[in-house]
Amino acid sequence: MSESFGLQSFSSIGMIIIMNLPYKRVLLKLSGEAIKGTREYGIDPQFLVFLAQEIKSGLDLGVEIAIVIGGGNIFRGLAASENGMDRIAADYTGMLATVMNSLALKDALLKVDVDARIQTAIDMKEIAEPFILDKARSHLVKGRVLIFAAGTGNPYFTTDTTAALRAAEIEANALFKATKVDGVYNSDPVLNRDAKKYDELTYMDVLKDELKVMDSTAVTLSKDNDIPIVVFDMNQPGNLVRILKGDPIGTVIGGKQNVSV
Ligand code: GTP
Repeated sequence: MSESFGLQSFSSIGMIIIMNLPYKRVLLKLSGEAIKGTREYGIDPQFLVFLAQEIKSGLDLGVEIAIVIGGGNIFRGLAASENGMDRIAADYTGMLATVMNSLALKDALLKVDVDARIQTAIDMKEIAEPFILDKARSHLVKGRVLIFAAGTGNPYFTTDTTAALRAAEIEANALFKATKVDGVYNSDPVLNRDAKKYDELTYMDVLKDELKVMDSTAVTLSKDNDIPIVVFDMNQPGNLVRILKGDPIGTVIGGKQNVSV
Protein backbone atom coordinates (compact mmCIF):
# COMPACT_ATOMS: atom_id res chain seq x y z
CA MET A 1 0.00 0.00 0.00
CA SER A 2 1.45 3.36 -0.95
CA GLU A 3 -1.18 5.45 0.84
CA SER A 4 -0.52 6.54 4.40
CA PHE A 5 -2.62 8.41 6.90
CA GLY A 6 -1.39 11.26 9.06
CA LEU A 7 -3.00 10.36 12.36
CA GLN A 8 -2.80 12.31 15.59
CA SER A 9 -1.97 10.69 18.87
CA PHE A 10 -1.07 12.10 22.26
CA SER A 11 2.31 11.59 23.88
CA SER A 12 2.57 10.82 27.60
CA ILE A 13 3.22 14.54 28.23
CA GLY A 14 0.15 15.59 26.28
CA MET A 15 1.89 16.73 23.08
CA ILE A 16 0.11 15.97 19.84
CA ILE A 17 2.21 13.74 17.61
CA ILE A 18 1.38 13.33 13.92
CA MET A 19 2.41 9.95 12.56
CA ASN A 20 2.10 8.65 9.04
CA LEU A 21 0.45 5.30 9.49
CA PRO A 22 -0.50 2.85 6.76
CA TYR A 23 -3.96 2.19 8.16
CA LYS A 24 -6.71 4.57 9.28
CA ARG A 25 -9.35 1.93 9.99
CA VAL A 26 -8.85 -1.80 10.51
CA LEU A 27 -10.99 -4.82 11.18
CA LEU A 28 -9.30 -7.08 13.71
CA LYS A 29 -10.31 -10.75 13.60
CA LEU A 30 -9.65 -12.58 16.86
CA SER A 31 -10.22 -16.30 17.14
CA GLY A 32 -12.35 -17.59 19.98
CA GLU A 33 -9.55 -20.08 20.69
CA ALA A 34 -7.23 -17.15 21.38
CA ILE A 35 -9.20 -15.91 24.37
CA LYS A 36 -9.21 -19.19 26.24
CA GLY A 37 -5.58 -18.45 27.14
CA THR A 38 -4.09 -21.60 28.65
CA ARG A 39 -7.50 -23.04 29.54
CA GLU A 40 -9.09 -26.03 27.83
CA TYR A 41 -12.34 -24.20 27.31
CA GLY A 42 -14.08 -20.86 27.85
CA ILE A 43 -12.63 -17.46 28.57
CA ASP A 44 -9.45 -16.43 30.39
CA PRO A 45 -10.30 -13.01 31.90
CA GLN A 46 -6.62 -12.19 32.46
CA PHE A 47 -5.78 -12.85 28.84
CA LEU A 48 -8.74 -10.68 27.82
CA VAL A 49 -7.28 -7.82 29.84
CA PHE A 50 -3.98 -8.30 27.98
CA LEU A 51 -5.84 -8.17 24.65
CA ALA A 52 -7.81 -5.11 25.76
CA GLN A 53 -4.59 -3.29 26.67
CA GLU A 54 -3.05 -4.17 23.31
CA ILE A 55 -6.17 -2.84 21.54
CA LYS A 56 -6.05 0.32 23.67
CA SER A 57 -2.44 0.92 22.58
CA GLY A 58 -3.54 0.56 18.95
CA LEU A 59 -6.41 2.96 19.49
CA ASP A 60 -4.04 5.48 21.10
CA LEU A 61 -2.24 5.74 17.75
CA GLY A 62 -5.47 7.22 16.36
CA VAL A 63 -6.42 4.14 14.32
CA GLU A 64 -10.09 3.13 14.22
CA ILE A 65 -10.56 -0.47 15.29
CA ALA A 66 -13.51 -2.78 14.68
CA ILE A 67 -13.41 -6.37 15.88
CA VAL A 68 -14.93 -9.71 14.95
CA ILE A 69 -14.33 -12.49 17.44
CA GLY A 70 -14.93 -16.19 16.85
CA GLY A 71 -16.65 -18.59 19.22
CA GLY A 72 -14.53 -21.74 19.01
CA ASN A 73 -13.46 -21.54 22.67
CA ILE A 74 -17.08 -22.22 23.60
CA PHE A 75 -18.64 -24.06 20.67
CA ARG A 76 -17.45 -25.20 17.24
CA GLY A 77 -20.43 -25.35 14.88
CA LEU A 78 -18.76 -27.34 12.13
CA ALA A 79 -17.37 -29.96 14.53
CA ALA A 80 -20.77 -30.34 16.18
CA SER A 81 -22.48 -30.84 12.82
CA GLU A 82 -19.86 -33.43 11.86
CA ASN A 83 -20.78 -35.22 15.09
CA GLY A 84 -24.44 -35.40 14.14
CA MET A 85 -25.94 -32.05 15.15
CA ASP A 86 -28.06 -30.32 12.52
CA ARG A 87 -25.72 -27.90 10.67
CA ILE A 88 -28.06 -24.92 10.93
CA ALA A 89 -28.72 -25.43 14.65
CA ALA A 90 -24.97 -25.86 15.18
CA ASP A 91 -24.15 -22.68 13.29
CA TYR A 92 -26.69 -20.64 15.28
CA THR A 93 -25.21 -22.04 18.51
CA GLY A 94 -21.78 -20.93 17.30
CA MET A 95 -23.14 -17.45 16.57
CA LEU A 96 -24.41 -17.22 20.15
CA ALA A 97 -20.95 -18.23 21.38
CA THR A 98 -19.52 -15.18 19.57
CA VAL A 99 -22.00 -12.99 21.46
CA MET A 100 -20.69 -14.35 24.78
CA ASN A 101 -17.10 -13.65 23.73
CA SER A 102 -18.04 -10.17 22.53
CA LEU A 103 -19.66 -9.34 25.86
CA ALA A 104 -16.56 -10.51 27.72
CA LEU A 105 -14.24 -8.54 25.42
CA LYS A 106 -16.34 -5.38 25.71
CA ASP A 107 -16.23 -5.73 29.49
CA ALA A 108 -12.43 -6.04 29.40
CA LEU A 109 -12.16 -2.99 27.11
CA LEU A 110 -14.35 -0.88 29.40
CA LYS A 111 -12.15 -1.92 32.35
CA VAL A 112 -9.09 -0.40 30.65
CA ASP A 113 -11.08 2.76 29.84
CA VAL A 114 -11.73 2.03 26.20
CA ASP A 115 -15.17 3.03 25.02
CA ALA A 116 -16.63 0.01 23.24
CA ARG A 117 -19.88 -1.03 21.64
CA ILE A 118 -21.29 -4.32 20.37
CA GLN A 119 -23.56 -4.70 17.36
CA THR A 120 -25.23 -8.06 16.71
CA ALA A 121 -26.26 -9.51 13.35
CA ILE A 122 -29.18 -11.24 15.07
CA ASP A 123 -31.56 -8.93 16.87
CA MET A 124 -31.17 -9.23 20.65
CA LYS A 125 -31.56 -5.63 21.60
CA GLU A 126 -31.79 -6.24 25.35
CA ILE A 127 -28.16 -7.38 25.10
CA ALA A 128 -26.62 -5.17 22.43
CA GLU A 129 -27.33 -2.81 19.56
CA PRO A 130 -28.44 -4.32 16.28
CA PHE A 131 -26.05 -4.11 13.32
CA ILE A 132 -26.68 -0.77 11.61
CA LEU A 133 -23.90 0.18 9.22
CA ASP A 134 -24.25 3.96 9.50
CA LYS A 135 -24.20 3.74 13.28
CA ALA A 136 -21.23 1.39 13.11
CA ARG A 137 -19.26 3.95 11.10
CA SER A 138 -20.30 6.69 13.52
CA HIS A 139 -19.01 4.69 16.53
CA LEU A 140 -15.66 4.19 14.78
CA VAL A 141 -15.28 7.84 13.83
CA LYS A 142 -15.94 8.72 17.49
CA GLY A 143 -12.99 6.53 18.51
CA ARG A 144 -15.01 3.68 19.99
CA VAL A 145 -14.01 0.07 19.50
CA LEU A 146 -16.86 -1.69 17.77
CA ILE A 147 -17.35 -5.43 18.13
CA PHE A 148 -19.49 -7.19 15.54
CA ALA A 149 -21.17 -10.21 17.12
CA ALA A 150 -23.34 -13.15 15.97
CA GLY A 151 -21.49 -13.64 12.70
CA THR A 152 -23.33 -12.56 9.59
CA GLY A 153 -26.55 -13.81 11.18
CA ASN A 154 -26.66 -16.64 8.63
CA PRO A 155 -25.68 -20.29 8.93
CA TYR A 156 -22.96 -21.66 6.60
CA PHE A 157 -20.79 -18.56 7.06
CA THR A 158 -17.73 -18.50 9.29
CA THR A 159 -16.54 -15.66 11.49
CA ASP A 160 -13.62 -15.24 9.06
CA THR A 161 -16.17 -14.50 6.35
CA THR A 162 -17.99 -12.17 8.76
CA ALA A 163 -14.71 -10.31 9.26
CA ALA A 164 -14.17 -9.96 5.50
CA LEU A 165 -17.76 -8.79 5.01
CA ARG A 166 -17.71 -6.25 7.83
CA ALA A 167 -14.26 -5.02 6.72
CA ALA A 168 -15.71 -4.26 3.29
CA GLU A 169 -18.85 -2.65 4.74
CA ILE A 170 -16.96 -0.29 7.05
CA GLU A 171 -14.37 0.36 4.30
CA ALA A 172 -11.47 -0.83 6.43
CA ASN A 173 -7.97 -0.40 4.99
CA ALA A 174 -7.03 -3.90 6.10
CA LEU A 175 -8.28 -7.06 7.73
CA PHE A 176 -5.94 -8.04 10.58
CA LYS A 177 -6.07 -11.75 11.30
CA ALA A 178 -4.59 -12.47 14.73
CA THR A 179 -3.13 -15.97 15.05
CA LYS A 180 -0.86 -17.99 17.33
CA VAL A 181 2.00 -17.89 14.81
CA ASP A 182 3.74 -14.90 13.28
CA GLY A 183 2.43 -15.28 9.73
CA VAL A 184 1.61 -17.76 6.99
CA TYR A 185 3.95 -20.73 6.44
CA ASN A 186 4.19 -23.32 3.70
CA SER A 187 3.58 -26.02 6.33
CA ASP A 188 2.72 -26.08 10.02
CA PRO A 189 5.69 -24.44 11.81
CA VAL A 190 4.73 -26.19 15.05
CA LEU A 191 5.14 -29.61 13.42
CA ASN A 192 7.81 -28.80 10.83
CA ARG A 193 10.96 -26.91 11.87
CA ASP A 194 11.85 -26.26 8.23
CA ALA A 195 8.54 -24.57 7.46
CA LYS A 196 9.08 -21.37 5.45
CA LYS A 197 7.31 -18.13 6.33
CA TYR A 198 5.92 -15.94 3.58
CA ASP A 199 6.23 -12.15 3.88
CA GLU A 200 3.77 -11.45 1.09
CA LEU A 201 1.25 -13.57 -0.80
CA THR A 202 -1.39 -12.91 -3.41
CA TYR A 203 -4.99 -13.89 -2.71
CA MET A 204 -4.65 -16.45 -5.52
CA ASP A 205 -1.59 -18.03 -3.82
CA VAL A 206 -3.73 -18.64 -0.74
CA LEU A 207 -6.67 -20.00 -2.72
CA LYS A 208 -4.63 -22.11 -5.15
CA ASP A 209 -2.33 -23.64 -2.53
CA GLU A 210 -5.20 -23.98 -0.05
CA LEU A 211 -3.08 -22.30 2.64
CA LYS A 212 -4.84 -22.56 5.97
CA VAL A 213 -5.20 -18.87 6.74
CA MET A 214 -8.87 -18.07 6.32
CA ASP A 215 -11.62 -19.94 4.53
CA SER A 216 -11.91 -19.41 0.79
CA THR A 217 -15.10 -17.33 1.04
CA ALA A 218 -13.32 -14.82 3.29
CA VAL A 219 -10.26 -14.67 1.03
CA THR A 220 -12.39 -14.26 -2.11
CA LEU A 221 -14.47 -11.51 -0.51
CA SER A 222 -11.30 -9.67 0.53
CA LYS A 223 -9.87 -10.10 -2.97
CA ASP A 224 -13.03 -8.76 -4.63
CA ASN A 225 -13.00 -5.72 -2.34
CA ASP A 226 -9.24 -5.23 -2.54
CA ILE A 227 -8.74 -5.41 1.22
CA PRO A 228 -5.33 -6.74 2.27
CA ILE A 229 -5.28 -9.45 4.93
CA VAL A 230 -2.47 -9.05 7.48
CA VAL A 231 -1.70 -12.23 9.43
CA PHE A 232 0.27 -11.75 12.65
CA ASP A 233 0.85 -13.09 16.15
CA MET A 234 -1.17 -11.05 18.61
CA ASN A 235 0.03 -13.02 21.64
CA GLN A 236 3.31 -11.09 21.66
CA PRO A 237 3.04 -7.82 23.59
CA GLY A 238 3.35 -4.79 21.31
CA ASN A 239 2.72 -6.67 18.06
CA LEU A 240 -0.60 -5.01 17.27
CA VAL A 241 0.97 -1.55 17.53
CA ARG A 242 3.96 -2.67 15.48
CA ILE A 243 1.78 -3.99 12.71
CA LEU A 244 -0.41 -0.85 12.81
CA LYS A 245 2.74 1.22 12.35
CA GLY A 246 3.65 -0.89 9.33
CA ASP A 247 6.47 -2.99 10.80
CA PRO A 248 6.96 -5.99 8.50
CA ILE A 249 6.45 -8.67 11.16
CA GLY A 250 3.59 -10.72 9.70
CA THR A 251 2.40 -11.93 6.31
CA VAL A 252 0.47 -9.59 4.04
CA ILE A 253 -1.97 -11.16 1.58
CA GLY A 254 -3.03 -8.99 -1.34
CA GLY A 255 -0.80 -6.08 -0.42
CA LYS A 256 2.76 -5.12 0.41
CA GLN A 257 4.60 -5.16 3.70
CA ASN A 258 4.56 -1.61 4.94
CA VAL A 259 7.71 0.10 6.02
CA SER A 260 7.47 2.42 9.03
CA VAL A 261 7.68 6.09 8.21
P1 GTP B 1 -24.07 8.35 19.90
O1 GTP B 1 -25.34 8.35 19.15
O2 GTP B 1 -22.89 8.53 19.04
O3 GTP B 1 -24.03 9.21 21.10
O4 GTP B 1 -23.87 6.83 20.35
P2 GTP B 1 -24.20 6.15 21.70
O5 GTP B 1 -24.06 4.68 21.42
O6 GTP B 1 -23.37 6.65 22.84
O7 GTP B 1 -25.67 6.57 21.99
P3 GTP B 1 -26.96 5.74 22.08
O8 GTP B 1 -27.95 6.62 22.73
O9 GTP B 1 -27.27 5.13 20.75
O10 GTP B 1 -26.57 4.53 23.07
C1 GTP B 1 -26.31 4.72 24.44
C2 GTP B 1 -25.95 3.38 25.02
O11 GTP B 1 -27.00 2.44 24.79
C3 GTP B 1 -24.70 2.75 24.39
O12 GTP B 1 -24.00 2.02 25.38
C4 GTP B 1 -25.25 1.80 23.36
O13 GTP B 1 -24.39 0.70 23.09
C5 GTP B 1 -26.53 1.34 24.05
N1 GTP B 1 -27.53 0.98 23.07
C6 GTP B 1 -27.97 1.68 22.00
N2 GTP B 1 -28.88 0.99 21.31
C7 GTP B 1 -29.05 -0.19 21.95
C8 GTP B 1 -29.85 -1.36 21.73
O14 GTP B 1 -30.61 -1.48 20.77
N3 GTP B 1 -29.73 -2.36 22.63
C9 GTP B 1 -28.88 -2.29 23.68
N4 GTP B 1 -28.81 -3.34 24.52
N5 GTP B 1 -28.11 -1.23 23.94
C10 GTP B 1 -28.19 -0.20 23.07
